[in-house]
Amino acid sequence: MRIKSMEFLISAVKPLQYPEEPLPEIAFAGRSNVGKSSMINMLLNRRNFARTSSTPGKTQTINFYEIDNAFRFVDLPGYGYARVSKTQHESWGKILNTYLNKRENLLEVIQLVDIRHKPSAQDKEMYNWILEAGYNGIIIATKADKMSKGQIQKQLGVIRKELGAKDRIIIPISTLSKLNKYEVWDLFNGIFEANDYDIHLERQNDSK
Ligand code: GTP
Ligand code: MG
Repeated sequence: MRIKSMEFLISAVKPLQYPEEPLPEIAFAGRSNVGKSSMINMLLNRRNFARTSSTPGKTQTINFYEIDNAFRFVDLPGYGYARVSKTQHESWGKILNTYLNKRENLLEVIQLVDIRHKPSAQDKEMYNWILEAGYNGIIIATKADKMSKGQIQKQLGVIRKELGAKDRIIIPISTLSKLNKYEVWDLFNGIFEANDYDIHLERQNDSK
């Protein structure tokens, strides 16, 4: 399948606003500024399809992106942004939990972490939730262009250890160099296949 269409559906905060369920969804969790929106753009060969910014806390809603009327990417609100009030934090938690606990068509929740940093307490909390909910605990380590190949391997080890993710899939990516872009596509193909969906993404002609 070559991607023919992509559409931003909605920024939702409550279930009534979610798009109708049947299409399968892959969601991305991670702290604010980790690069969730940038990764969606890289995968779809778009510069500013999923909105990004250098101001942390930009995505505070659940953003649904539909691809080829076949599946959706779900950009979850980022956590760990210090400058939010307690009330804002509680509302964030509620928004996220409601989606994660209720969504029947959610195939996989993928954890994004910044390759440069030791996972935070909230990363661990999120990751444990993912494992407990029965997902595969797939990790994508972002911003790999910020370090050397040797350092990348070392940091992957640190992240694995901290998250207790010994035998889990972990893929370093860079939205700048496009490192492992197609490995991520292959991963998604595997997820669709494992869930009996006839969705298979082919390598696209990259137009930057
Ligand atoms: P929230 O919406 O706040 O939750 O953040 P987010 O996780 O969506 O992060 P976003 O994609 O907006 O990226 C945050 C910042 O990191 C932006 O300035 C991006 O340009 C930068 N960034 C994202 N990915 C990479 C990467 O692979 N390499 C480098 N060097 N910078 C990146
Ligand atoms: Mg974002």
